[in-house]
Amino acid sequence: MSFQSAPLSATSKRELYDHLASQMSSLLAGERDLTANAANFSALLYHSLPDLNWAGFYFAKDDELVLGPFQGQPACVRIKIGQGVCGAGAAKCETVIVPNVHEFPGHITCDSASNSEIVVPLMKDSRLIGVLDLDSPLHSRFDREDAAGLETLVRILLSSVGS
Ligand code: SME
Repeated sequence: MSFQSAPLSATSKRELYDHLASQMSSLLAGERDLTANAANFSALLYHSLPDLNWAGFYFAKDDELVLGPFQGQPACVRIKIGQGVCGAGAAKCETVIVPNVHEFPGHITCDSASNSEIVVPLMKDSRLIGVLDLDSPLHSRFDREDAAGLETLVRILLSSVGS
């Protein structure tokens, strides 16, 4: 199996996410295991989106988020709902964009290279099952177009596992 990254110089962000959505659908088709699909999901994102230093998942267990499949440096394993950027996204059940993590109250540093972050909640039947978390060494790396593109990709992941 081989997936080529989109040629960035020739594509807009919207086109990149459209291309990724098509790749992701193919990559996850035929497998319904959440861990397996979350692992391939994070690998495809990490190697396709520019300027990331971490891409992966935390899954909701009781009142905590627990580390799931990811790409990047080793990360903190448990985050309380409501704490840090991941916990804020989980508590609100909304996408959170943080242009400068050093100005976010309670930000949890896993990789000192991170300067901006986006967290997208994973919802099943109106219930939180986890979050997708992306970190970047650039300030203001993520915008509403990233949020929309990532929310579409998360929907592809959830539908692949029957959520
Ligand atoms: N920065 C996150 C913690 C997870 S790592 O970035 C992988 C937070 O504040 O929730």
